[in-house]
Amino acid sequence: MVFIMKGFFTLVASATVLNACNAAIVLPRDASPEILAAKGLALAERALPNSPSGGYAPAPVDCPSPRPTIRVASSLSSSEVSWLPLRRNNTIDPMTTFLSRMNISGFDATSYINRVKNNASTLPNIGIAVSGGGYRALMNGAGFLAAADIRTNNSTNTGQIGGLLQSATYLAGLSGGGWLVGSIYTNNFSSVQDLRDGSKGSSVWEFGNSIFEGPDNDGIQVLSTADYFNTISDEVSSKSNAGFNTSITDYWGRALSFQLVNATNGGPAYTFSSIAETPNFMNGSIPFPFLVADERSPNTAIVSLNSTVYEFNPYEMGSWDPTTYAFAPTKYLGSNFTGGVVPAGQQCVAGFDQAGYVMGTSSTLFNQFLLQINSTSIPTFLRNIFTTILTDVGEDNNDIAQYQPNPFYGFNNATNRNAQAVELTLVDGGEDLQNIPLYPLIQPQRAVDVIFAVDSSADTNYNWPNGTAIVATYQRSLNATIENGTAFPSIPDQNTFVNLGLNTRPTFFGCNASNTTGDAPLIVYIPNAPYIYQSNVSTFDPEYNSTERNAIIENGYDVATMGNGTLDAQWPVCVACAVLSRSFTKTGTSVPAECQTCFQRYCWNGTVNSTTPDIYTPTYKLSEISVKGAASGLGVANTAVYAVSFVVAVAVMFS
Ligand SMILES: *[C@@H]1O[C@H](CO)[C@@H](O)[C@H](O)[C@H]1NC(C)=O
Ligand SMILES: *[C@@H]1O[C@H](CO)[C@@H](O)[C@H](O)[C@H]1NC(C)=O
Ligand SMILES: *[C@@H]1O[C@H](CO)[C@@H](O)[C@H](O)[C@H]1NC(C)=O
Ligand SMILES: *[C@@H]1O[C@H](CO)[C@@H](O)[C@H](O)[C@H]1NC(C)=O
Ligand SMILES: *[C@@H]1O[C@H](CO)[C@@H](O)[C@H](O)[C@H]1NC(C)=O
Ligand SMILES: *[C@@H]1O[C@H](CO)[C@@H](O)[C@H](O)[C@H]1NC(C)=O
Ligand SMILES: *[C@@H]1O[C@H](CO)[C@@H](O)[C@H](O)[C@H]1NC(C)=O
Ligand SMILES: *[C@@H]1O[C@H](CO)[C@@H](O)[C@H](O)[C@H]1NC(C)=O
Ligand SMILES: *[C@@H]1O[C@H](CO)[C@@H](O)[C@H](O)[C@H]1NC(C)=O
Ligand SMILES: *[C@@H]1O[C@H](CO)[C@@H](O)[C@H](O)[C@H]1NC(C)=O
Ligand SMILES: *[C@@H]1O[C@H](CO)[C@@H](O)[C@H](O)[C@H]1NC(C)=O
Ligand SMILES: *[C@@H]1O[C@H](CO)[C@@H](O)[C@H](O)[C@H]1NC(C)=O
Repeated sequence: MVFIMKGFFTLVASATVLNACNAAIVLPRDASPEILAAKGLALAERALPNSPSGGYAPAPVDCPSPRPTIRVASSLSSSEVSWLPLRRNNTIDPMTTFLSRMNISGFDATSYINRVKNNASTLPNIGIAVSGGGYRALMNGAGFLAAADIRTNNSTNTGQIGGLLQSATYLAGLSGGGWLVGSIYTNNFSSVQDLRDGSKGSSVWEFGNSIFEGPDNDGIQVLSTADYFNTISDEVSSKSNAGFNTSITDYWGRALSFQLVNATNGGPAYTFSSIAETPNFMNGSIPFPFLVADERSPNTAIVSLNSTVYEFNPYEMGSWDPTTYAFAPTKYLGSNFTGGVVPAGQQCVAGFDQAGYVMGTSSTLFNQFLLQINSTSIPTFLRNIFTTILTDVGEDNNDIAQYQPNPFYGFNNATNRNAQAVELTLVDGGEDLQNIPLYPLIQPQRAVDVIFAVDSSADTNYNWPNGTAIVATYQRSLNATIENGTAFPSIPDQNTFVNLGLNTRPTFFGCNASNTTGDAPLIVYIPNAPYIYQSNVSTFDPEYNSTERNAIIENGYDVATMGNGTLDAQWPVCVACAVLSRSFTKTGTSVPAECQTCFQRYCWNGTVNSTTPDIYTPTYKLSEISVKGAASGLGVANTAVYAVSFVVAVAVMFS
C-alpha cells in the first residue's frame, strides 16, 4: 500500500502527489528554523498543564489516599454536590440582573429571585448544550455563547441576551461543540471574543491554518508542516512508549489542540481534570463543563441509539446508562482499575485525560467515515485506497479512541456491558444521532430546568439541522431499558420540523410540563439558520479564513438574538420567560401575560405535519454580508480535500 509508508518525509511526498487531485490543501511548508524559537519561548503558564510526565504521555503517580475507586452512578459525585451550591449562589446576581433587564411587564424579577434563591429547586437551573458539526458547530455555537456572555461588547444592549451564560449552571459540548467548550475551559474560560481575536504569536482559533498543515508562519508558535507532524508524532510516541495504546484519536487530538489550546504546541501537558483545579472553577464563577462521547460495544461496528453514552466532566468520566452505570475519577483514568479498585501494590496513573485527547475522543468519527465512504463524492480510486487503509486501521481498533485499561473492567459484571473488555472504545458523541449533548443535562439528579440546545447539525441536503438530534434523544427516552430515569419533552418528527419551520427559528419544547415522558426540562431549541451568512458549511471543511470565521460567529450571534431582536423585539424577553418557566410551575406563580404571549409564539403546540417536505433551502433572514477578500483559493475545501488530508493523518500513524 503506497500510502502506508514509514517515515515522515515520504508521507509529505505522498500528500503532494495526492494534492494534484485537488489543488487547495496539504501544501507542505518549507522546513523552518523557527521551531527553535518556539521551543525557547516560555509562554506564561496557565493553571492547567499538570500532566505528571510534563508532556503528552500519562505517567504513574502515587495513589492518593483514599485510593481512587469506580463508583456506581446512583447519585452525583460528592465533588459535584459540594461544588453546586457555590455555583448556584454565583448565578443569583447575574440572573437577577439579566431578568430585570428583560423587564417582563408586570413582573418584578428582583423580588421573585429573592424569594426563590434559597431553594435550589425553585431557583432556575440553566444548562446550555452545543451540538457537534465540526468547525461549523464550533463557530455557530461560539456565536450563541458570545451573545449569552456578559463580557461580549454590546451583549447587554436592547435586543441582546448577555448574562445568560453567567446565569447557567452547566455547559455541555459534543464533537465540534466540544472543541468550543474545551477551548474555552482550557484557556481559563476565555471569552469567545478574545479567542476569536486571538493574540500575537498565538495560533488559537486560527482556522485558516488547516489542522493538516499546522500553525502558520507569522506566529511565534511557528512550525513547518514537517516539524508540526514530527512534534505530534513524537508526543504520541511518548504515550505509546509509556505503555499505552494509541490510535488515530491521539493524533487527531494533538492536531486540534494547536488551534484550540493557547499554549506552545497545543499544550501537550494540559489535562481535562485540571479544570477542577483552576480558581474560577473552584470558586464556582463559571459553569460546570461536559464533553460527551459514545461507546462502540466490543466487536461491533455500528453505534446506535442504544449505545452507551459517556460524559466527561472535570471530576469524573462515566455513564448513567444501565449498560455501564458507573463513574471513574477523570484525573486517574489510565490507572489499572479492576473490579473498581486499583490493585494493592500498584501505582495510579495520571495525565491520561489529556485535554486534547478528550476533545478528540468526543469528535472521533473516522469509523463513520468508513461506513459512509460509499456515499461520498470521493473518486473511486481514492475511495478504494481509503477503504483499505481504514479497514486495516479499524481491525486494530485504531479508528476509535482507546481507553485502555478500561476503567470499568470487572466492575458490576452482571449489568455492565463492557465488564469483560480490557479496552473501552469511544467514538464521536454524535454517532448515535444524539448530536446535541443533552445527555448530561437530562439526568434527573441534576434537575436542570431549561436547556438551551444549540443545533448546528448537518441533517438536510444542505447541512442545516432538521431536529434529528433531539428526535433521537426523545426516542431514547422512550426506551424503558436504556433511559434509566431520564425524561424528555415530546418531540415531533423531522418532516414536521421542516414543514412547520421549527428548524428555522427558536422553538420551545415541553412548555406544558405534563407533555413530557417524565420530569423533564424545557428545551429551547436554537437551530442554525442563515441571518447574514450561509453558515451551513460542510462538517468536513478543514479550514476557514478569519473573515469567514467571523461571519459564521456573527451569524450564530444573530441566531441567538434573532438578529439583535430585529426579527422579534420580544425575543430576549421570551428567553427570560423560558428561564423562569419551570420555576413558575414549581412555585405555583401565575405566568405573566407577556410570558404567555411568548409561549404562544415559541412553544411547539403539538401540531404535526409529517408529509414529506420540499428540499429545505432557507433564505436570508437579514441581509447577507460579504466575506470576499483578495481572491484566494484558500477557502476551497470539500469532502474530497478533507479526505486527502485525512489519509495523511492516517498514514502518519504508521510512520
Ligand atoms: C453567595 O454569593 C454572595 C455574593 O455573590 C456572597 O456574598 C455570599 O457569601 C455567598 N454565599 C454563600 C453561601 O456562598
Ligand atoms: C449593538 O446592539 C444594538 C441593539 O441590539 C444593535 O442595534 C447594534 O447593531 C449593535 N451594535 C453592534 C456593533 O453589533
Ligand atoms: C494566549 O496566551 C498568551 C500567553 O499566556 C497570552 O498573553 C494571550 O493573551 C493568550 N491569548 C488568548 C487569545 O487567550
Ligand atoms: C441495541 O444494542 C444491541 C447490543 O449492542 C444490538 O445488538 C441491537 O441491534 C441494538 N438495537 C437497536 C435497535 O439498535
Ligand atoms: C432499547 O434498549 C435496549 C438496551 O440497550 C436494546 O437492547 C433494545 O434493542 C432497545 N429497544 C429498541 C426498540 O430500540
Ligand atoms: C438505572 O440502572 C441501574 C443499573 O441497572 C439500576 O440499578 C437503577 O435502578 C436504574 N435507575 C432507574 C431510575 O431506573
Ligand atoms: C498495570 O497493569 C499492567 C499489567 O496488567 C502493568 O504492566 C502495569 O505496570 C500496571 N500499571 C501500573 C501503573 O501499575
Ligand atoms: C463500499 O463499496 C464497496 C464496493 O464498491 C464494498 O465492498 C464495501 O463493502 C462498501 N462499504 C460499505 C460500508 O458499504
Ligand atoms: C468480574 O469479572 C472479572 C473479569 O473477568 C473477574 O476477574 C471477577 O472475578 C468478576 N467479579 C465477580 C464479582 O464476579
Ligand atoms: C432530516 O435529517 C435526516 C438525517 O440526515 C435525514 O435522513 C432526513 O431525510 C431529513 N429529513 C428532512 C425532512 O429534512
Ligand atoms: C404530547 O403532545 C403530543 C401532541 O399533542 C402528543 O402526540 C403526545 O402523545 C403527548 N405526549 C405526552 C407524553 O403527553
Ligand atoms: C475567505 O473565505 C471566503 C469563503 O471561502 C472567500 O470568499 C474569501 O474570498 C476569503 N477571503 C480571503 C481574504 O481570502
